[in-house]
Amino acid sequence: MSAASPSAPSKPVDTRGLAGQTVGDTQVCAVTQTQLIYRGYEIADLAEHASFEEVAHLLLVGHKPSASELKAFRDELASMRDVDQGILDVVGRIAESKSGQAEVHPMGILRTGVSLLSHVDPDCEDNSPEAELRKSKRLLAKIPTIIGFGQMRRDGRKPVAPDRSLDHSANLLWCMTGVKPDELAARIMDVSLILYAEHDFNASTFACRVIASTETDMHSAVCGGIGALKGPLHGGANEMAMEMLKDIDRDCAGGRMTVDAWMRRAFEEKRKLMGFGHRVYKNGDHRAGILRRWGLKLAEKLGPSAKKWFDLGDEVQAIMLRDKNIHPNVDFPCGMTYFVMGIPVPQYTPIFVASRITGWCAHIMEQHANNRIIRPLAEYTGPALRRWNG
Ligand SMILES: CC(C)(COP(=O)(O)OP(=O)(O)OC[C@H]1O[C@@H](n2cnc3c(N)ncnc32)[C@H](O)[C@@H]1OP(=O)(O)O)[C@@H](O)C(=O)NCCC(=O)NCCS
Repeated sequence: MSAASPSAPSKPVDTRGLAGQTVGDTQVCAVTQTQLIYRGYEIADLAEHASFEEVAHLLLVGHKPSASELKAFRDELASMRDVDQGILDVVGRIAESKSGQAEVHPMGILRTGVSLLSHVDPDCEDNSPEAELRKSKRLLAKIPTIIGFGQMRRDGRKPVAPDRSLDHSANLLWCMTGVKPDELAARIMDVSLILYAEHDFNASTFACRVIASTETDMHSAVCGGIGALKGPLHGGANEMAMEMLKDIDRDCAGGRMTVDAWMRRAFEEKRKLMGFGHRVYKNGDHRAGILRRWGLKLAEKLGPSAKKWFDLGDEVQAIMLRDKNIHPNVDFPCGMTYFVMGIPVPQYTPIFVASRITGWCAHIMEQHANNRIIRPLAEYTGPALRRWNG
C-alpha cells in the first residue's frame, strides 16, 4: 500500500501556536490565503490609490475620509507631533548608551518612549471611545518623533524637529535622516506603511488585544505590541532579511561561494531564512510583490550598486521556491527597499511600528467596545497529583 493511499494514517494537524484556529472576530481586517482587506478595501487597491493617512483614518475612525475630513485629520496629526522634552531627554540617553557590549535596539528605545508618553497623556486612564481615538492619533503622530530623535542621538547627530508641512511618511523619513525625501522616496515609504498597517490577529495585534481585554490602558497594550513585533519571527524579520542578504553578498564575494551553495548550507543547518514563509499565505504574500516593484523602481534609478540587492534577492527567492516551495513575505523586499533608501537597518522594525500603530489601536478600540477578558484554557501535561510531604 502506498503512503499516499487514502487509508494510510494522516499526519496529525499541528495546532501549536493556534495554527489554523479562529479565536475571535473583527471588522477591521480580513486575511485569507489570497486576499488582504482593510475594512472592505483590498490591499492592492489601497497601495495604488490611497495615501497612508487616508488608510490610517479608515482604520482608526472607521471609514474612508472625505477631502475635508482628511485635511482635518492631517492637520490634527501634524499639530500633535511634538514630544515632551523630558521624554526626549530619556530617549536620547538610552539611545546613546550601551547595554553590556551591544547598543540598545531602537525597538527597545521605542517601547520605553511609548511607555513614557503614557505619563503625559491626559487621557491615559480613560478607555472611552472618544479618549481612545484621541490617544491613537497622539501615538501615531508622536512615534516618528521618538524614532527620529533616538536615531539621530545614536548617530551622534543633532535631532531635527518634526516638520508640520510634511505628511506622516515624509515626516518620518525627515525625522530619521534629517533629509527631506524626494517624491519617489516619500511615496515608497507611504506604500510600505500602507502595506504594514494592519493584518488581523497577527502576534503583536493579538498581544495588544489580550492586554486590552483586561481593561488596562491603550499605552500598556501598545507597549506589549511593540515587544511582540520586535521578535525575528514577526516584525524583526525585515531587519534580519537584509542582514542575511549582506551575509550572502559577503560570503559569495569574488566567486568564493555560489548563492546556491550558501543556501544549501543554510538548509543543511536547518536555518529559517528570514523574510520567507507565512502562517496564512502559503502560496505567496501579495504585499511582497507590491513592495518589490516600488523598491526596484528606486534601485533602477539609483544604479547598479543598488540594483544588485534586488538581483541577489531574486536569486535567493528563486532557490527558496525551487528547493523549499516557500515564498517571500513582505519583510523580504522591505529589507532591500529600505536599504537602498539609505535607512539604517535597526530602524526597519520601528518603521513598522509607525504604521502598525494604526492597526493595533483599531483593534484595542474594537476589543474595548465589546470586551470579555481573553482567558483560554491549557491542556495540562505535567506530573500526576502528588503530596508535598511524602
Ligand atoms: C512566518 C513563520 C513564523 C510562520 O511559521 P509557521 O506558520 O509556524 O510555519 P512552519 O514553521 O509551520 O513552517 C512549515 C515548514 O516550512 C519551513 N519553513 C517555514 N518558514 C521557513 C523559512 N523562513 N525558512 C526555512 N524554512 C521555513 C518550516 O521549517 C517547516 O518545515 P518542516 O515542516 O520541515 O518542519 C515562519 O515561516 C518563519 O519563521 N519565517 C521566517 C521569519 C519571517 O520572515 N517572519 C515574518 C513573517 S510575516
